[in-house]
Amino acid sequence: MQTSVLLITFLAMGLVAVAFGYVVKRSGTRDEDYSTITRQGYLIRRWWMLALCAVGVLVSAWTLIPFPLQAAINGEARSVDVVAKQWSWEIESRSARVGETVRYRVTAADVNHGFALYGPDDQIVAQTQAMPGYVNELNVTFEQPGVYRVLCLEYCGVAHHAMTAEINVTEGP
Ligand code: CUA
Repeated sequence: MQTSVLLITFLAMGLVAVAFGYVVKRSGTRDEDYSTITRQGYLIRRWWMLALCAVGVLVSAWTLIPFPLQAAINGEARSVDVVAKQWSWEIESRSARVGETVRYRVTAADVNHGFALYGPDDQIVAQTQAMPGYVNELNVTFEQPGVYRVLCLEYCGVAHHAMTAEINVTEGP
């Protein structure tokens, strides 16, 4: 994997260098009137910019509407302490019941981590930062049974990708 990434990188660098050399070799000074093309270019650029902004706003609105906001608490919430550290999760309780609201009290023992909870369908359910010296509370009401996964959402070192944990959610009283 590492070797192929290195080879691809060198290959890409080589291609860029060849293209650069070609452009430098071909370039020269020619006196031609480019004013009409320039004017047209600026016009296209302006409309292109406006179109990109419009697309950006629409895509943002569309994707942010189902934003995973914190669950409103109806009644009791069970507190569960969570400590993130390089590179594992210390979670006081790794199980929950459907319909139950759990208040995760999230902190970190070394550097910043991100506590992200993914549902059985691999959709993100809730997330908060895990920061040393702070406790962030995250209320989660579990709506479906299954295995939820905790992933780290903040790059925290070489084994960041290995920072996972599971929470089992079962039906029941
Ligand atoms: Cu912890 Cu990334």
